[in-house]
Amino acid sequence: MGEAKLEAWLEETRTFQPSAAFVAQANAHAAIYEEADHDPERWWRAQANRLVWHKEPTKILEWESPFAKWFADGTLNASVNCVDRHVEAGNGDKVAYHWIGDGEGERRTITYAELLCLVSQAANALTELGVKEGDRVAVYMPMIPEAVVAMLAIVRLGAMHSVIFGGFSADALASRILDSGCTFVITADGAFRRGAASPLKPAVDEALESCPDVRAVLVVKRTAGEIEWVPTRDHWWHEIVDRQSSTHEAKFFEAEHPLFLMYTSGTTAKPKGIFHTTAGYLTQAAATYYYVLDVKAEKDVCWTAADIGWITGHSYIVYGPLINGATQILYEGLPDSGGKDRWWKIIEEYGVSILYTAPTTIRMLMKWGDELPAGHDLSSLRLLGSVGEPINPEAWIWFYETIGASRCPIIDTWWQTETGSMMVSPLPGVAAAKPGAAMRGMPGISVDVVNEAGQSVANGEGGYLVITKPWPAMTRGIYGDPSRFQSTYWDRFPGKYFAGDGAKRDKDGDIWLLGRIDDVMNISGHRLSTTEVEHALVGHPAVAEAAVVGASDDTTGQAIVAFVTLKFVKDDHEQNHAEIIEELRQHVAKVISPIARPRQIILTPDLPKTRSGKIMRRLLQDVAESRSLGDVTTLTDPLVVNMIAGLMESSSNED
Ligand code: WTA
Repeated sequence: MGEAKLEAWLEETRTFQPSAAFVAQANAHAAIYEEADHDPERWWRAQANRLVWHKEPTKILEWESPFAKWFADGTLNASVNCVDRHVEAGNGDKVAYHWIGDGEGERRTITYAELLCLVSQAANALTELGVKEGDRVAVYMPMIPEAVVAMLAIVRLGAMHSVIFGGFSADALASRILDSGCTFVITADGAFRRGAASPLKPAVDEALESCPDVRAVLVVKRTAGEIEWVPTRDHWWHEIVDRQSSTHEAKFFEAEHPLFLMYTSGTTAKPKGIFHTTAGYLTQAAATYYYVLDVKAEKDVCWTAADIGWITGHSYIVYGPLINGATQILYEGLPDSGGKDRWWKIIEEYGVSILYTAPTTIRMLMKWGDELPAGHDLSSLRLLGSVGEPINPEAWIWFYETIGASRCPIIDTWWQTETGSMMVSPLPGVAAAKPGAAMRGMPGISVDVVNEAGQSVANGEGGYLVITKPWPAMTRGIYGDPSRFQSTYWDRFPGKYFAGDGAKRDKDGDIWLLGRIDDVMNISGHRLSTTEVEHALVGHPAVAEAAVVGASDDTTGQAIVAFVTLKFVKDDHEQNHAEIIEELRQHVAKVISPIARPRQIILTPDLPKTRSGKIMRRLLQDVAESRSLGDVTTLTDPLVVNMIAGLMESSSNED
């Protein structure tokens, strides 16, 4: 769709109104905005009734900026809230997860009653291994039911999980284990990707060489491969968990008891351990799942197509859905495992009604062609959602028309690892939606778009997204680094949470998210910092200096482009360049993860610098996106950037 056509299209159908039929059955109604605006704290206290409490809280919010406490005098158990309560309420036979493996024939259906047995056994096994309240346990697993069971068993004991995405390297795993002082690791021998087994445990073995405090490793057998074994440390899941009692009496913890850590990239090379606690997080995850994903536990089949290694998986595959008693799809494979129509097959076969995923995946599915979804009955779908990066109108419209048959509302949900749950989104059945806009703050959430001086911008103007009042699922800080929490998020606009995203208000006052304004890149919805990748590059012995930018990319949103100067250049440079570029790409994949592998590396004799020696990334970004160059007058040597632009044009080292 060309620019002009898109404009015309948007002009014609500027907003999408939910149908009368949808409005009639929606969980959310317009009055909840007023109710929440009138007294946000009371509104959240009412939402906390979605939880089962051992002791009901009498307090709501205690706020000592930037640290919040929500419902502080209440006590509860997160795992009981997700599982036991449904069994006690007589819904034990309800399906919690339809697990679908990477391979076509692999399936497992787990009811809430079965989930309770599995979680209880795992909690007993962890206790036998020595896991106690307050411990940190790393989870490095593929998308198999044991991953969810592990998370719920850990928090049942009052320990914290730190789930590390299975695509991360041994180095990345080790640094996260060390930063949070994890003493246990739960993993699998391997995972399946498009039918092929790929080992996982070797990365754990390598990581643990530098993590002497890890006492035990629990390993799920997923593949048939042979693996190294450390008998004093390693335990097979099937040997230790399966023989445990299937009952476990849970203890209750305070509302602010630590729940989990989730590492995410900031603007420095060191990922931050974002720290979440129990009751506030669970309240908002549950409430947003109910109102935004509009779940009806009795009849919906919900699919959050994300990995549990990211916050979306935590809030909308584990905690939010389970508290609501939802039935979900848990899918291990890639969108094209077993064929490019695998998703549409799953939706048809299981009657999926709510689908929540990332723009990158939507764009990829769109590229694969309309014939694939057209070959399947997708009429069970009733709501579609997007998260993780700005969704371009073209992808939005395709999702709406081709997948949702112009019948399903689309919710574009803006939030972050730090916010814990959704923050800005239209409510289906209440608000109209515009393709590409996240629209407005949710009930009980106060967001604003401000200018450099921290003042609200007028309609039609752009600025920075801020959150002006504390919210229940907000992070309680960066693990082990309270001052970094203050300086990263709260110093820029005193009293307001600075999200790091640019935003604009359109002429109706609706909010559009415009992407990060800091050094955080968003690659296929994965957050990576430019400095983290630069750090990995300069860790290679041949590299003198590196500058990394996120350049816009049709499929992945942004892609990594690195400009590198070498310490030495050999004579036969053409061939040598190709080799070193490949070596550097592999090096970054090894140090961080394959998702951080640069799309392009440009070897250059110099980098554009200001007279004070700062690398001008803004100019490199212009080069990487083939834009005309901005102001170059402050550079020490303005010719450098022209030379780099020439190198960029002649380079072709893309995947
Ligand atoms: C971006 C993912 C535009 C944003 C839940 C944010 C979005 C970062 C949207 C957080 C959206 C997330 N529209 N941008 N709907 N959702 N983002 O921590 O830049 O992995 O700051 O959390 O993703 O990424 P994170």
